[in-house]
Amino acid sequence: MFEKFEKLPDDPILGILTSYRNDDNPKKIDLSVGVYKNEDGLTPIFDAVKKAETKKLSEETSKTYTSIEGDPVFCEFIQRLVLGDDHVVIKEKRSGAVSTPGGSGALRVAGEVINGWKPGANLWVSTPSWPNHIPLLSTAGLTVKEYPYYDGINHVIKTDEMLTQISKLTKDDILLLHACCHNPSGADLDFETWKEITTLAQKNGFTPFVDCAYQGLGLGLDADVEGLRYMASHLPELIIAYSCSKNFGLYRERVGSTIIITENPATTDAAWTHMKSVARRLYSVPPAHGAIIVGMILGDKELKNSWKAELDQMQQNINTLRGLFTESIQTKSENRDFNFVKSQRGMFSILGLTVEQVIQLREEFSIYMVNNSRINIAGVSATNIDYLADSIATVL
Ligand SMILES: Cc1ncc(COP(=O)(O)O)c(C=O)c1O
Repeated sequence: MFEKFEKLPDDPILGILTSYRNDDNPKKIDLSVGVYKNEDGLTPIFDAVKKAETKKLSEETSKTYTSIEGDPVFCEFIQRLVLGDDHVVIKEKRSGAVSTPGGSGALRVAGEVINGWKPGANLWVSTPSWPNHIPLLSTAGLTVKEYPYYDGINHVIKTDEMLTQISKLTKDDILLLHACCHNPSGADLDFETWKEITTLAQKNGFTPFVDCAYQGLGLGLDADVEGLRYMASHLPELIIAYSCSKNFGLYRERVGSTIIITENPATTDAAWTHMKSVARRLYSVPPAHGAIIVGMILGDKELKNSWKAELDQMQQNINTLRGLFTESIQTKSENRDFNFVKSQRGMFSILGLTVEQVIQLREEFSIYMVNNSRINIAGVSATNIDYLADSIATVL
């Protein structure tokens, strides 16, 4: 069987990281993979995570299987984190969650549940979007279609074109939105647009599906999910895929959640059994360690405050770097306007370089970014910012 296989190309993002690791230029800069890095280029473990882990390890008595839905404490707190304790959906017990292997697992469980409802249903994804959305959700059986989102020349959201397309969706369509820190563009919907999309969903009956992978890293824990919460309180149904990879720094522990909101608790209970049935046949039970850590942090005032403070600091660092990077590149490349980088949110922005320029940066300057010139702002630091801006100015 295997002699028939031909070698596949490297993953477009993780493959770049491998090249970066093999580069021995001391000035090399990695702006590719979406992980937070501090000033020393390290992806730190949150203090609250370390404390919760120490406690967990000393208290845990068994590694027996967790249930299909995962840790119930995690499932409860993650819904409260994304929706807010006082949200009408929480009060009316209209949401249900399962713990999943990361945000990717959450997306896939949701995709399979949707496909079980209507095989081959249309799933509308923004152009551009996180590169794994399409492979991950189309292989769940969904028919992926794209709606216009970002204008890479003028660096703005194509709001009118997007709304025109969305206004044509019907009750048979699912609309995938990014809650905040849009990956790869860093351009987020404003609250008015969230409201307009909600009105269209009320009128035409399509179901929004919100991918929330960066809560707390754009404007703050509440501000980042303002649009999502509005939708959840104005629509009968909503699907959420949540990732704790970035905002808890638990990347490799694989912590995420699929959350389904329906019109009433009985329907939610039924939908929950479908999520569990999908999980059982995909991976049986989710990884437990990271989810238990998140549950411990969110359930303990002191740990939660410590986690929030560290997350706030990360968010501020990212926004400070956005300002510094814009200032530096702007003085060195006067003919180009890079001010959009300062106003965008989260870890990513697309610089608008050609593939040739991106490759030149990689080969001549050891600066690694994705071919569409998406950069991870957290890869910029006070020590590399001038080298980075000079190199970009040279290739421009
Ligand atoms: C928009 C978006 N959704 C989902 C994910 C998946 O996250 P995880 O690493 O938790 O699977 C990512 C990861 O980069 C992402 O950027």
